[in-house]
Amino acid sequence: MYKYLLKKFSALDRNQPTSKQEILPLPKEWETAEEERDETEGKAEEERREEKHKEKRRSIKRSKIWLKPQGLLVPDPCPMACMKNYLLPILGICLAYYYYSADEEFKPEMLQGKKVIVTGASKGIGKEMAYHLAKMGAHVMVTARSEEALKKIVSDCLKYGAASAHYIAGTMEDMTFAEQFIAKAGKILGGLDMLILNHITSATMEPFAGDIALVRRSMEVNYISYVVMSMTALPMLKRSNGSIVIVSSMAGKMASPLVAPYSASKFALDGFFSSLRTEYSVAKVNVSITLCILGLIDTDSAMKAVSGVLNAEAAPKEDCALEIIKAGALRQEEVYYGKLGWSSLLLENPGRRILEFLSLRNYNMEKFINN
Ligand SMILES: NC(=O)c1ccc[n+]([C@@H]2O[C@H](COP(=O)([O-])OP(=O)(O)OC[C@H]3O[C@@H](n4cnc5c(N)ncnc54)[C@H](OP(=O)(O)O)[C@@H]3O)[C@@H](O)[C@H]2O)c1
Repeated sequence: MYKYLLKKFSALDRNQPTSKQEILPLPKEWETAEEERDETEGKAEEERREEKHKEKRRSIKRSKIWLKPQGLLVPDPCPMACMKNYLLPILGICLAYYYYSADEEFKPEMLQGKKVIVTGASKGIGKEMAYHLAKMGAHVMVTARSEEALKKIVSDCLKYGAASAHYIAGTMEDMTFAEQFIAKAGKILGGLDMLILNHITSATMEPFAGDIALVRRSMEVNYISYVVMSMTALPMLKRSNGSIVIVSSMAGKMASPLVAPYSASKFALDGFFSSLRTEYSVAKVNVSITLCILGLIDTDSAMKAVSGVLNAEAAPKEDCALEIIKAGALRQEEVYYGKLGWSSLLLENPGRRILEFLSLRNYNMEKFINN
């Protein structure tokens, strides 16, 4: 008995067939018992296989039901479902992108009589935007801290043909000022069609050495004040089906050394306003949000900041200012401007857009729209 079992197990160990003939002949009295055992084992094996099969089918069903909400990472076992769930929407995005990116023509008359606010307008790109808007016949409201510079810009705007031109001076470090500025501007203008947020706190280009005050100031001036002003202006913009235009930078789309606090504030703008845009599009709020991604522009501050630090060609501020206004008037989601070459194609990041579009299906937005 011992010998028989030993041989049988060693055969099993080597993964060999365990037919009785190959092993020791069984004693007669065991043979019937052995056959009965084989039969029961066979049945049990068959039942195990059947159970395994059923479990597999159940797990496929479960994956269809439960793994779907996790979205893109889980492959759907059925190719038709995969096509319906993923390929068709991606194709849809490509077509929509192609359709919407087809150049709609900009006409300066689009801004005629429009009520527009430009922040950071005492110099640089902001000042150029004020001048373009004036030439297009808009009502212009400008702000910054330097009152003298603003006075001069208002009088220039009137000379250039603005329907009206006003200024309110103050600092965007103060959120109460940011809020009150919009309220006052709305009263003076009698409403609002376009809010162009462009100001930034001054900063030099250098390795970050722990200046937390600068991080805080950058976030407050370059980001929080933008949120405060947009939210205060929203009721007016909803009434006019207006536009919010956010002036940002390549440093708000990609890691850029020597400007960490600035870069953080520009990334924050993208995160906040791109999320807001998605909410508005789902909730059918007809206020457009345009994010302007600029490369190096030849303003005095930028030229001074990059001098001896960055080798890059600068684009003209007058042209840049016009492109920002055009993008806002055409209600584009994003615009890239500067001597960017192929960089803009890479920064546009179609992968992110596809993910954003597809992930929307996982949210129950109805809950908020109907309330
Ligand atoms: N120039 C570039 O190479 C470049 C590249 C990428 C992105 N951008 C973006 O383009 C926009 C304009 O840049 P720019 O080069 O034209 O800047 P800029 O010439 O330095 O102008 C900045 C404006 O912000 C105002 N400002 C500064 N601190 C303020 C505060 N605490 N409160 C209120 N206003 C304040 C300034 O006026 P006061 O000093 O009178 O307050 C000025 O009008 C910015 O958003 C910037 O990030 C520029």
